[in-house]
Amino acid sequence: MELLCIQSQEHPELPLAELKAVMECENISAEIDVITEGLVILKNISNDNIDSYYEILTRRLGYTHEIHEIIKESNTDNFDEDILSINWSEYIDGTFAVRVKRFNTEIGTVATERRAGSLILSNSDNIKVNLSRPETLIRIVVHKNDFYIAIERIKLNKKHFEDSKPHKRPFFYPGSMNPKLARCMVNLSRVKEGQLLLDPFCGTGGILIEAGLIGCKLVGSDIYWKMKNGTSINLDYYGITDYRTFNIDVRELKMYEKVMAVVTDPPYGISTSTGDIEGEDIFKEFFKSIYNNMRDDAYLCMASPHYVDLKPMADEIGFDIVEQYGIKMHRSLTRIISVICKKH
Ligand SMILES: C[S@@+](CC[C@H](N)C(=O)[O-])C[C@H]1O[C@@H](n2cnc3c(N)ncnc32)[C@H](O)[C@@H]1O
Repeated sequence: MELLCIQSQEHPELPLAELKAVMECENISAEIDVITEGLVILKNISNDNIDSYYEILTRRLGYTHEIHEIIKESNTDNFDEDILSINWSEYIDGTFAVRVKRFNTEIGTVATERRAGSLILSNSDNIKVNLSRPETLIRIVVHKNDFYIAIERIKLNKKHFEDSKPHKRPFFYPGSMNPKLARCMVNLSRVKEGQLLLDPFCGTGGILIEAGLIGCKLVGSDIYWKMKNGTSINLDYYGITDYRTFNIDVRELKMYEKVMAVVTDPPYGISTSTGDIEGEDIFKEFFKSIYNNMRDDAYLCMASPHYVDLKPMADEIGFDIVEQYGIKMHRSLTRIISVICKKH
């Protein structure tokens, strides 16, 4: 079968990178066809495990908004005929609505919704339109002159990312990244439910919250007791229980159990304190200390400012940088998200 993913367009690369990373670590195999930014088709995806794939994608993804099962691909010339050729009773039981989403097209939303709705009604018995609470939602995605006729299978929960913004948590301290990016970084680390994830600069716990919500076991540490304690308060607030927090300088970190993933936002810039570590040395010290706390097949996903060149530091310790993405924060700062693994 084929699935149509509608993704956020708030970054040109991260939504796709996140989707690919989740598919890779969860062994979801499909051919990925990028139609345009924000619109991706997963082809040849197996029907057999589809319900578990829906569960995994819904639980994990941050930057994908909707996933639909494609029934038919069409175009302007054949649209009416193609809509009429579908046996709608296979898909609609009771009430339905048609909703259109447009990408780079002049074709109108309302006209297409009305046209499709009336063609479906004219060709089926015992079904009704219900625009506010339909039992089946038919999603028609129009890209240029192409139409993807689909049934909605997943609508991801955007409300969580709104409700868990840093200032809405019980313990707040400036410098926590937005929860959607934190979720994406957790996903880029290829960690899975039940595996151990560490954030050694845990601050208020923004990254750990997102990892906890997808089912990871967590360890968080921070040089300041107040932050370690704040992380625990925030994790408790979200009902996350499988965690331990420590008050420790990253240079002293020694885990009994090596971790499957490290996801972190090290301190940098004038506003963040790094204990007594000077400037870029925090990154060197971090790499040195974290290497032996990671399993050989673990990934590290971290943020850093564009003016720090991680490559030579990572190289020296025995790490390879496998992916990097830039996020422009303002005129003089781009944040770099790097995915790193041990050299093999
Ligand atoms: C950018 S903040 C992390 C923000 C975090 N992701 C959040 O959601 O709040 C960096 C954190 O590193 C901690 N830190 C600074 N120097 C450290 C060190 N040498 N070892 C461990 N933690 C340190 C700071 O106390 C701060 O909480």
